[in-house]
Amino acid sequence: MTELTFTRTPATRLPDAEREAVLADPGFGKRFTDHMISIVWDREQGWHDAEVLPYGPIPMDPASSVLHYGQEIFEGLKAYRHPNGDIVTFRPEANAQRLNESAARLALPELPVELFVQAIRELVTVDADWVPSGHDQSLYLRPFMIADESFLGVRAAERARFMVIASPAGPYFTGGVKPVSIWLSGEHARAGRGGTGAAKCGGNYASSLLPTRIAAQHGCAQVLFTDSATEDTIDELGGMNLFLVHRDGRLVTPELNGNILDGITRKSLIRLAQDRGLTVEERKVTVGEWRAGAADGSITEAFACGTAAVITPIGQLKSEQGVLVDFGDRAPGELTMSLRDELTGIQFGTVADRFGWVE
Ligand code: COI
Repeated sequence: MTELTFTRTPATRLPDAEREAVLADPGFGKRFTDHMISIVWDREQGWHDAEVLPYGPIPMDPASSVLHYGQEIFEGLKAYRHPNGDIVTFRPEANAQRLNESAARLALPELPVELFVQAIRELVTVDADWVPSGHDQSLYLRPFMIADESFLGVRAAERARFMVIASPAGPYFTGGVKPVSIWLSGEHARAGRGGTGAAKCGGNYASSLLPTRIAAQHGCAQVLFTDSATEDTIDELGGMNLFLVHRDGRLVTPELNGNILDGITRKSLIRLAQDRGLTVEERKVTVGEWRAGAADGSITEAFACGTAAVITPIGQLKSEQGVLVDFGDRAPGELTMSLRDELTGIQFGTVADRFGWVE
């Protein structure tokens, strides 16, 4: 068991009334709690100097490798307040494992799973008053690791820092759970064979920003990326995985082909659906198949999923060619919403956690 003793430097607390005002309407990723976690790594000492610090700027040399070569990875998970007052997190070990897979791809050091979980617990404990209790509200936790050796040669850094910050969160998409339109990016790709598509690294998100801006210009909330080689095989959205629902209850989602993120919401939904006796196909799925299925009525629902987005129904798929898929003005799909209710019920403590996911 790798445990470090976290030294705690207490922060000046935001006055209760101000914090309550933030919690009443947190939005997403705009306000941060009183504290943050920092753990330092270098080649000689490994992980050391674990600290709970007041939230604030971090010292950084302008030559830090992350600023030049983008050697950075991150995670996203949430803490939920249960009706009995308990505060829990959802599958933190899965985030820890995925962080380490990303670390391997970005040539960053691995962080012991138990140290990751310990760091999350420290922050949630010290900032417990920041966990909101409103409907669909949670404390979004953002663990990340940066290379911070001051060196301009292009090689893996010999010094890194792992941090966790936290932000009270409401729905990711303003407007709550209503169908969003998504934009099929024709011109830009997110990942290619052998690239970093499966890693949760800042670069993947940086490359999605221009296509996401173009998507917004067309009234779309997210961009859909296809495989750069086939241009028709669906990979994922800018920051979420995608599922299609067939009329017969079958779910289809792109397979983990090395280009897409192994989403924790994705894998949890697969488990929930299978547990209901539904078939989930993880395979190659194309835009053509989605269009044809939506047109002949065999594909009845589509949704995006991720920690931030939870499950968000998709109403339309658009591209330069016009509207490719249109589920019309109908309410969010039945299966989409019942999976959403079950997952959020487990997370918020109103549905029994038969998988041991909350802790
Ligand atoms: C998450 O869902 O946690 C992500 O990291 C994606 C991002 C759109 C916020």
